[in-house]
Amino acid sequence: MSFNSQLHQKAQFVDDLLWRLLASRQIEGRLKEAISYTLGAPGKRLRSALVLWCCELVGGQVNHNAEIAAAAIEMVHTYSLVHDDLPAMDNDNLRRGLPTCHKAFDEATAILTGDALLTLAFEILAKEVDEPAVAVKLISQLAQDAGPSGMIAGQMADLKAQNGRGNKELLEYIHTNKTAKMFRCATAMGAICGGTTDEQFQRLSEYGLKIGLGFQIADDILDVSASSEHLGKTAGKDAKATKCTYPAVVGIEKARQLEKKLADEAIAALEPFGEKADTLRQLTMALLKRTR
Ligand code: IPE
Ligand code: IPE
Ligand code: MG
Ligand code: MG
Ligand code: MG
Repeated sequence: MSFNSQLHQKAQFVDDLLWRLLASRQIEGRLKEAISYTLGAPGKRLRSALVLWCCELVGGQVNHNAEIAAAAIEMVHTYSLVHDDLPAMDNDNLRRGLPTCHKAFDEATAILTGDALLTLAFEILAKEVDEPAVAVKLISQLAQDAGPSGMIAGQMADLKAQNGRGNKELLEYIHTNKTAKMFRCATAMGAICGGTTDEQFQRLSEYGLKIGLGFQIADDILDVSASSEHLGKTAGKDAKATKCTYPAVVGIEKARQLEKKLADEAIAALEPFGEKADTLRQLTMALLKRTR
C-alpha cells in the first residue's frame, strides 16, 4: 500500500473512532454541536496516526489502548487549534477549510468547546484504557507535553514574542514547546501502548521532537508561500501579526535547510528499528514535501 493510502486509512479510522467516542458521551445541545463541528472538520490526523504507527512498530500491531490514546491526542490538538484561533490569540477566521469555532458559534462557546475537548481527552484515557498502569503513563505524558511546561509554554512565548525581535534560541524554544512536544507526545504514547523498552522510548521520543520542530518550520514557510484556499486556514497571517517565525528570523532558504537537517536527524533516530520503521521514514519525507 502506498504511504498516502496508509495515512488516509489511518485518518479515516481516527475519524470513525472520534465519532463513536463522542456518540457514547452525554453532551447536550449547542456544546455537542460545536464539539462535533470542530472535531469533525477535516484535520490531517497526523498525531493520531503517529500514535498508531509507533504502537505497531514497538508492539507488532495497533491495540485498544493505542486507539484511545490516538483519539485523546487529537482531542487535545483540536482544542489547541480552537483556542489558538480566538481573538485574544491569533484571531483567525478560517480553520480546516471552515469558519473557526468562534465564528461559526461564538467566543464563549469556542472557549468552552476547547475546555470540553481537553477534559474529555483525559476522561477517555482514565476510563477506557485497559490497564491502570498504562492509563497513568499516558495521562502523565499528555499532561506534561500539552501543559504549562509544553504546548502552553510555547503558546505563551509565541504571543509574548509578537512585535518583538526574535532570535534562533527563542524560535527553537517556541516551536519545540508549542508544536514539537505534541508530536513527541504522540510517538511516546504509541510506544507506551506497544509495551516499549527504555531505548525504544528514547528513540521514538527523539524522532517525534525532530519531526515536530520540522513540522512547525514547514507551517511557518507555508504561511508565507501557500494560499488560504489550499491551506484551509488564513495565509500571510504571521507577517501581519509580526510573529516570531523561521522565515522572519532566518529567511526561507535557511528555514528549508534546517527542516531538511531535522528530517535527517529524525531518520537517524529510527536506525535501531531497521526496516520495520519504513513507514515513519516515509512520513518524514512526506512532511518535507507537504503543501498543506
Ligand atoms: C496545525 O496543525 C497547528 C500546528 C502545529 C502548525 P496541523 O497542520 O496538523 O492541523 P490539522 O490537524 O491538520 O488541521
Ligand atoms: C499553533 O501554531 C500551534 C498550536 C499549538 C495550536 P500556529 O498558530 O502557527 O498554527 P496555525 O498556523 O494557526 O495552524
Ligand atoms: Mg498561534
Ligand atoms: Mg494560529
Ligand atoms: Mg501557523
